[in-house]
Amino acid sequence: MQKIVIAIDGFSGCGKSSTAKALAKIFGYTYIDSGAMYRAATLHFLDNKVNLDNKVDVLENLKTLKISFDFNSETGKQETFLNGRNVENEIRSMRVSDHVSEVSKIKEVREELVFKQQELGKNKGVVMDGRDIGTVVFPEAELKVFMTADLTIRGKRRLKELQEKGQKVTLDEIVRNLAERDEMDSTRKESPLLMASDAVELDTSHLDFDDQVNRIVEYAKERISLYSK
Ligand code: DC
Repeated sequence: MQKIVIAIDGFSGCGKSSTAKALAKIFGYTYIDSGAMYRAATLHFLDNKVNLDNKVDVLENLKTLKISFDFNSETGKQETFLNGRNVENEIRSMRVSDHVSEVSKIKEVREELVFKQQELGKNKGVVMDGRDIGTVVFPEAELKVFMTADLTIRGKRRLKELQEKGQKVTLDEIVRNLAERDEMDSTRKESPLLMASDAVELDTSHLDFDDQVNRIVEYAKERISLYSK
């Protein structure tokens, strides 16, 4: 069977990551969370007190940025490592969420991370989620999905996730952060969040998780059989 690239883009908090993970499991593909890479870069810059307006400082710190993923067999989850340190929880904190859009609009950061993402997906058989996967990282992806959902519904889903991780946040804080990131991600100069013209749009506001995964599974099966002919 031909392996394909499944690109999942969309607004913050639409359930892209959990959907992409479930798809990867079903098809036996590798899941790559490109947002985690922007989050890890943000944490690296915050820890090193990088002046984001200083190109030299940004470039120097990009040289020492090593991001990797590893599967934790105890939790059954993929985790993100920054220079060998497990940062999976830290990159989901509001401290990082509040700065990640600022970092991800920097051209040099995007170039570096897009290159790494293309390397990770060059043999196909990947599900990658983000904001520019179908438009910039894999414009030739065999399946592109653009996920949307109502802002308050997204906020409530994210609140539940963070509370389960023991983080203290309010719905207001989350909704404000999601709205700000939507705005910054959609209006930035460097590869803004856009729906690719050949993407399938999926509004998940009123879909339950299994339904949203099943819809994409059906699209993926169609594409796999089309490209296997
Ligand atoms: O998917 P996420 O919410 O964890 O992503 C965090 C931020 O990273 C998001 O607000 C914008 C940025 N991002 C991006 O610019 N391009 C991507 N491909 C993925 C994420």
